[in-house]
Amino acid sequence: MTPGPTPIPESVIRAMSDCQIHHRSNEFKEIFKTASEGLRGIFETRQDCLIIAGSGTATMDATVSNFFSSSDRMLVVRGGKFGERWAEIGEAYGLDVDAIDVEWGRAVDPEIIRTRLKNNSYAGVFFQASETSTGASHSTETIARIVKEEQPETLVVVDGITAVGCMPVRTDAWGLDIVLSGSQKAFMLPPGLAFLTASDRAWDRTKSSDLPKYYLNLSIERKKQQGGQTAWTTPTALVLGLVKALEMMHQEGLDHIQQRHHALSEACRAAAQAVGLGLLAQDAPSRALTAIHCGDGLDAGAIIKGLREDFGIRVAGGQEHLKGRILRIGHLGWVDDGDILRTISAMERVLSNIGHSFDCGAGLQAAEEKLRELSL
Ligand SMILES: Cc1ncc(COP(=O)(O)O)c(C=O)c1O
Repeated sequence: MTPGPTPIPESVIRAMSDCQIHHRSNEFKEIFKTASEGLRGIFETRQDCLIIAGSGTATMDATVSNFFSSSDRMLVVRGGKFGERWAEIGEAYGLDVDAIDVEWGRAVDPEIIRTRLKNNSYAGVFFQASETSTGASHSTETIARIVKEEQPETLVVVDGITAVGCMPVRTDAWGLDIVLSGSQKAFMLPPGLAFLTASDRAWDRTKSSDLPKYYLNLSIERKKQQGGQTAWTTPTALVLGLVKALEMMHQEGLDHIQQRHHALSEACRAAAQAVGLGLLAQDAPSRALTAIHCGDGLDAGAIIKGLREDFGIRVAGGQEHLKGRILRIGHLGWVDDGDILRTISAMERVLSNIGHSFDCGAGLQAAEEKLRELSL
């Protein structure tokens, strides 16, 4: 129950074991094309969806180095660890980075982005659709609309690593220029693959980009992938797993998947509040995870340890200044009502064990009510 890596279905594990196929064979090319095609549906785009061997950060890095140039100015929404990462990558490549600092746990006010755009010119606006370090979700659709209204040439760059496949990220319909995700999140795979899709106007920028790139040269990668191959050796096992995972996702249907994540996140939030804990991301929560604030008297580390040692349930802790203060329960990917109820029940037991006073059973009841109300 962490916000990645997430649980892997048995059928995906079995699919990955059939990995004796050579990555340059015609048989594998067909498999690869099936995976690319399946990703288009989940990213809600008609554009190519590239499959990159690497973790999510590889595509963040490649986004900056391929679609931007050294003289570019970028606007970053910095409301957590991953927003910081956009800024760090931009600085590493020598871009002029301008950031909007957002209190961790809050979503950016899109009007602040508008104001910046009115007064400055940017090559791209970078943000997280789901900021995994805080559990907050920045409003992708509204930000994209504002960028189009204020500076139509500016690229809208969305880190959708824990958003795609959990919550609406309508790449084409909302005019998103670059959208990223990773295998170990809603895609129910082990870590090792990252995904990226880009608009025509973003691809145009690659022609003038002057930043160094070699392994992650996306123009070369795109050309190769259009023929069913990757530029370098393909992690074939992961692609076989991806085909199976995408088949499962398409069978369930994107709307249903998103509704399931909505129900799970509402249930988790309701349970946390019912047992007297706080929510870090109150106003705009991500559907991928719930960041629970423990308040002054409770040590989040003790809850995390109790869940792991007494119940075999792994949840994530806080990062940086939130270490020891929050726990992050992931509910993305191969997660259902039973997983959430088991986690809440275990959390209640741990809370009693460490002396937290609350109405025993209230969390479970609150979660159950939300699941009944919202599950399809
Ligand atoms: C929103 C977000 N962006 C970027 C990353 C970095 O991805 P990776 O750790 O796969 O490189 C993560 C990882 O959790 C993430 O959640």
